Amino acid sequence: MKVLAINSSPRGKDQSKTELLLDSLVEGMRSADADVEVVHLRAKKINYCIGCYTCWTKTPGQCVFKDDMTRELLPKFLESDLAIFATPLYHFGVNAQLKTFIERTLPAIEPFLIEHNGKTSHPMRGRHPLMVALSVAGFPEYSIFDQMSSQLRQIYKRALVAEIYRPASETLVQPAFEKVRVDILDAVKQAGVEIVQNLKVSDDTMKRIVQPVIDLKTMCAGANMLWQTYIDAGVTPKEAMEKK
Ligand SMILES: Cc1cc2nc3c(=O)[nH]c(=O)nc-3n(C[C@H](O)[C@H](O)[C@H](O)COP(=O)(O)O)c2cc1C
Repeated sequence: MKVLAINSSPRGKDQSKTELLLDSLVEGMRSADADVEVVHLRAKKINYCIGCYTCWTKTPGQCVFKDDMTRELLPKFLESDLAIFATPLYHFGVNAQLKTFIERTLPAIEPFLIEHNGKTSHPMRGRHPLMVALSVAGFPEYSIFDQMSSQLRQIYKRALVAEIYRPASETLVQPAFEKVRVDILDAVKQAGVEIVQNLKVSDDTMKRIVQPVIDLKTMCAGANMLWQTYIDAGVTPKEAMEKK
């Protein structure tokens, strides 16, 4: 299985919880013999879609831009059997980097409309990969991912074979949560194995990934104290981490 993992977190490995989880998922997939390539959108130049529809009319399937999306990413995406979208939750949805990527896949969609059971969609132009979504969020409640999940399911429908969402992501790296972090990352690795072998994540594995790690009140109190410490010291979270 050829897998393309697309990481849209702007933060580097030292800080990113998206990448922390993605590393485990990829490790699991590779251990099940998948051929996985990871690309980091933060290192790529991708223009916004300008809505000119040239890719639907004058040059079907071809975008007007020549950038990392047309030269590298879209061909790789369409050649893969499975693509992973790994994104931090930003304002209840995928972040702008990933949204820009998604919008620039327009050349791989046909302009024509199909109506099915009262719902409208576009046919795909050629073959598309199956999809996995992976995301992390600061807030502790799982429902924080509802809008993102709904949007991705609307776009990718049955091609979206697995959704791996981990709330309270920032707590995971704190020493007090060491044990639970190890279990969650091991479960994400197991999810990688299961996706390659069965194209789905089992209920038991999913339960371990989403296990509650902290109650809402404790989370709010702890987070508020931490932010106040950063504000008082005049440092960003990254600077505070580096000072330690
Ligand atoms: C611009 C921005 C918007 C965010 N929006 C949300 C949000 O809507 N809900 C939430 O729970 N966390 C939100 N967060 C927190 C991030 O999802 C969280 O810190 C996550 O770990 C970031 O991923 P990363 O560690 O890979 O950078 C936001 C963070 C930023 C910077």
